[in-house]
Amino acid sequence: MFRFRNFNILIACLLMGNVAEAASLGIGTHASPEVILGWDIDIRPDGLGLPDGEGSVSSGEPLYESKCAGCHGLFGEGEGRWPVLAGGENTLDTMRPEKTVGSYWPYASTLWDYIYRAMPYTAPQSLTHEEVYSIAAYVLYLNDIVGDDFISNKKTFSQIKMPNVANFYVDDRPDVENVRCMKDCANPAEFQIVTTINGLTPTSHFKKDSGVASSHSGSNVSVVQKSDAIKVALSPMANAGKPVYIKSCQTCHNTGIAGAPKLGDLVEWSSRLSQGIRILHKHAINGYQGGSGVMPARGGNMSLTDDEVINAVAYMVELSR
Ligand code: HEC
Ligand code: HEC
Repeated sequence: MFRFRNFNILIACLLMGNVAEAASLGIGTHASPEVILGWDIDIRPDGLGLPDGEGSVSSGEPLYESKCAGCHGLFGEGEGRWPVLAGGENTLDTMRPEKTVGSYWPYASTLWDYIYRAMPYTAPQSLTHEEVYSIAAYVLYLNDIVGDDFISNKKTFSQIKMPNVANFYVDDRPDVENVRCMKDCANPAEFQIVTTINGLTPTSHFKKDSGVASSHSGSNVSVVQKSDAIKVALSPMANAGKPVYIKSCQTCHNTGIAGAPKLGDLVEWSSRLSQGIRILHKHAINGYQGGSGVMPARGGNMSLTDDEVINAVAYMVELSR
C-alpha cells in the first residue's frame, strides 16, 4: 500500500518521458490532464483521492442487495465460495483466520477504492461515486464499524479507524543486507547446493563470516543421515539439540514406543507440526497427552532447561520433514 505513492511518481515520470519521446520520435500522443485523471483513481489511506459526493448506510442497503449480495451474501457472509466481506473478528491468529474487510483490512479507503475500481465483479467501474459511498458505508455497517445512521463522504470516510490497523506497520528493513563482494570473492563455479535447511533455503554457498544469514551460515551446518537416501543440513539449534535428544528423547522417539511419533516419520510429524512449532515446544516442555500416548514433561528429564528441550525439538523436526 505504501508503495502506491512511489508508483504514482513512477507513472508521472513515465508520462513525462513520453512527452519527450513523442516529440523526438514522432510516435505516441501527449497524456492530457483529462487522460491522467481517468487513470488517477487511487485512494490513499489518509483519504486523499476520495471524490466529492455522499452516501448513507440506508441508501447502500438496497444497492448492496441488488448488486453485491448475490455473490457476497446478504450479510457479507459470502455465497458458496465467493469472498466473505464481514465477520471474522479475532480469528487472525487462529488456525483458520478469516480475513474480511472488518477483521483484516487496515484502511477504509481501500474499500472505497476496491469497490469503485473492481466491483461488481461482472461490471467493474459501473458505479457512481454516490453509489460507492453508499455501498461502502453499508459494508462497513455489516462489519459493525459504523452505525446505521452513518453518512459517508470524503470527510467521514477518511476518519474511519479500522479495527486491525495497528497490526500493519511499515517494514523498514533494507531490501537486502548483503554487501557486494569486490575482492577475494567466492567462486560461483564452486558453489554447490547440496541440500537445504527445512527443504527450503540453500545454504552451502554462504561464505564463512560473510554475515549472511549467520544463524544458518554454511560454516555452522553439519550434515547427518536422515535416511539412506536423503541428507539433511541441521541448523545450529538442531545441532545443539542432538545430544539432548540422544540422552533424553531417543528411548521413545527412535522406535516410536508408547505411541511416540517416530523420528523421521514425515507424515506423523507434518500433522503435528501443523499445530505450529510453539505448541510442540509447549508440549515437550510441559508434557502432553494426545490421542496416541503420554509424552512426559521434558521427556522425564527435569534437569533440562527450556532451551535444551526446544533445541531437541528442532533436531527432531528437522530430521522429520
Ligand atoms: C459475480 C460475483 C460478484 C459480485 C456481484 C460482486 N463481487 Fe465482489 N468479489 C467477487 C470476487 C470473485 C472477488 C475476489 C476478486 C479477486 O480476488 O480478484 C470479490 C472481491 C470483493 C472484495 C474484496 C474482498 C477481499 O477481502 O479481498 C470486496 C470488498 C467486494 N468484492 C465488494 C463487492 C461489492 C461492494 C459488490 C457490489 C457492488 C460486489 N463485490 C459484487 C465477486 C463478486
Ligand atoms: C517416555 C517416552 C517419551 C520420551 C522419553 C519423550 N517423549 Fe516425546 N512423546 C512421547 C509420546 C508418547 C508422544 C505422543 C503423545 C500424543 O500425541 O499422544 C510424544 C510427543 C512428542 C512431541 C509432539 C507433541 C505434539 O504436540 O504433537 C514432541 C515435540 C516431543 N514428544 C518431544 C520430545 C522431546 C524433546 C523429548 C526429550 C526431551 C521427548 N519428547 C521425550 C513420548 C516420549
